[in-house]
Amino acid sequence: MTIHIYQAQLLHYLTEENLAARAKHTHVETADLTNDSLTNAERPSITVVDKNVTLLPVVAGVKVYPEYIANGALVVDDATGRVVDYGSCASMMSQYGNASRQEGQAPVQIHDCQDQLIMPGFIDTHVHYPQIDMIAAFGEQLLDWLNNYTFVTEANFGDTKIADDTAKFFLNQLLANGTTSALVFSTSHPQSVESFFNESCRLNTRMITGNVLMDQNAPEHLCVPTEQGIRDTQNIIDKWHERGRQHVAITPRFAITSTPKQLQMTGELYRSYDSVYLQTHLAENLDEIAFVRELYPNHKGYLDVYHDMGLLGRYTTLAHGIHLSTSEYEVLRDTGTQIAHCPTSNLFLGSGLFDLSKTLSYTGVSIATDVGAGTSLSMLTTLSEAYKVQQLQSNPLSAHQGLYQITLGNAQSLLLDDKIGNFMPNKEADFVVIDMGGTDLMERRMTQTKSLDEQLFVLMMLGDDRVIEETIIAGVSRYKKAVAG
Ligand code: GUN
Ligand code: ZN
Repeated sequence: MTIHIYQAQLLHYLTEENLAARAKHTHVETADLTNDSLTNAERPSITVVDKNVTLLPVVAGVKVYPEYIANGALVVDDATGRVVDYGSCASMMSQYGNASRQEGQAPVQIHDCQDQLIMPGFIDTHVHYPQIDMIAAFGEQLLDWLNNYTFVTEANFGDTKIADDTAKFFLNQLLANGTTSALVFSTSHPQSVESFFNESCRLNTRMITGNVLMDQNAPEHLCVPTEQGIRDTQNIIDKWHERGRQHVAITPRFAITSTPKQLQMTGELYRSYDSVYLQTHLAENLDEIAFVRELYPNHKGYLDVYHDMGLLGRYTTLAHGIHLSTSEYEVLRDTGTQIAHCPTSNLFLGSGLFDLSKTLSYTGVSIATDVGAGTSLSMLTTLSEAYKVQQLQSNPLSAHQGLYQITLGNAQSLLLDDKIGNFMPNKEADFVVIDMGGTDLMERRMTQTKSLDEQLFVLMMLGDDRVIEETIIAGVSRYKKAVAG
């Protein structure tokens, strides 16, 4: 067991409740600030919880604020994998820096990242790992894109070697992009899930996935008979749900590729558990919506199909939700169903412009890459595109709103905010070390910034995997950027 002290600039987002809990521990900060024996250089910079920043919360009524510590330190224990404490560098060093000198205390390792920014690991709430092999396929919109590229690639994932190899590559790519947790689509082959969870267990990442349920309107070799698909999911829940850091999501692909019987059985399975997730797609593309209407002429609309089958609820995340009526927003609100906004995908497939503030006014929204329709695994690039999508609707997304979303906000949407999403003591120590000047252009641009807000906005607009120096999972370093040269 080693205590690690990461000396760095710290940025994360806190709820009012988190702040109240922290207030009980502020004596150290205050003592340090008033300690005249400290020189200026040793003085901790003042912790800034900026209550003037207004953030739209993912959970209605829960106020959230940024906390930035210019001269901070994050203390983690690699045995428990949890945050021990965080605060000003001076106070953390005086409390924990000498621990190893005392009899029976754990050794302490200091990491000097003082020129870098540490943030909680990013969370991606909708991504298809097998589609990493067909990302950036030209020219088509959703239904043709699925038939001509996606299904062709997904057909390979019954092969253990392909599934193992792709899961390893994909999870490493997530870490290289600073993403430490994700809600993931595998394929309809149970092997694809097995390969993914095996690798996620090895890395000790907190991940959610499940076998994709499809029993109609897809190539025969990808369809699994109705009951067999449900049995596969049941077996996967029995083996993997809440084993270590893994969770299972029941995963009907969308209303088009499941028979009514399968959706019904899916709903029954979902309701038989308290904490199993459900993920699917909703109202992404106008032809898709028309097809659902043809298949379900007696339902009020697309969302009503899922509602009727019992698929909605607080553990449900629906990707896209671009084209919705007011009554559909009300159903999302009344059931607690969450929407994953996928900006690069919506632009790439020409699906439409997501109304972020309207959707947030009804229910929880997370932000996601949706690779392979999405064009980047970087949550920073995803935010950059989200900003542009909102600009077209006269609703500019601030850097704090975006960075809150991809950390604590996405954790809240997935009901994982008791475990991950910020640096509150005892949370799991998943975090990223960010080089704000990670490219020559960013380094130059940063010299022209006059405030933290400006710097964070540049990070959001220009940042990608090149700014991710290191990714730490449960207190253990799992990715380090290769040194150029
Ligand atoms: N709708 C059903 N399947 C998919 C998929 O794989 N990607 C996207 N973007 N939309 C879908
Ligand atoms: Zn998707």
